[in-house]
Amino acid sequence: MTDTITQGETMNRLIHQAVRRDLTRFTDALQRFNAGDRARATALADAFGHFDTMLTHHHEGEERILWPVIGDPGAGHGEDVAELTHEHERIVSGLAGTRAAFARLRTSASAEDAAAATAGLGVLRDAAQTHFAHEESELRALCEAAEPQALAAAFKKMGRDASPAESAWFMQWISEDLPRDDDAALAKIIPAPVRLIARLVAGRRYAKVQQAAWS
Ligand SMILES: [Fe+2]
Repeated sequence: MTDTITQGETMNRLIHQAVRRDLTRFTDALQRFNAGDRARATALADAFGHFDTMLTHHHEGEERILWPVIGDPGAGHGEDVAELTHEHERIVSGLAGTRAAFARLRTSASAEDAAAATAGLGVLRDAAQTHFAHEESELRALCEAAEPQALAAAFKKMGRDASPAESAWFMQWISEDLPRDDDAALAKIIPAPVRLIARLVAGRRYAKVQQAAWS
């Protein structure tokens, strides 16, 4: 069970790391944005669309699959899990505002919409940072209190309902620029052939979207 929880914690941490990294990149790219640069506006909106899908899938998966297990009345942590859900709602709201701003930026390429996207990212970053710090400090204790078999089944199920294309993109997203220790930890969870196939499927397109947005 310790291994299951450690692997669940590792995946959670790598996802959070990718979210934090991208929030910084979006903010930096918007600071450099020149009004009227339609190519960059489109590229940023495209990149945000992928980021939105990744983050949304992550928190919806937790709500649907993991929370019922760690929030089970028998585990005695209903209030903690309710708080995590409340934090997710703040993320959802931050995402909605930012999504709308990037959609406008895609068509206008205006300084006003770039500023609105930056403001949205600020709200989102605030919500994500609060939630991630809470989750990272409490997830192990919540998992240890949960019913072991149900927890193992939940972790196994997380992310399995994504399409093959989305899964391949997810692998690129969490693997990008990983420090050696994190890469070794990920290798223990996702077999090398699976990572290789994901790279073959999505690697080039992932790199293209990233390059167009930040380069
Ligand atoms: Fe979460």
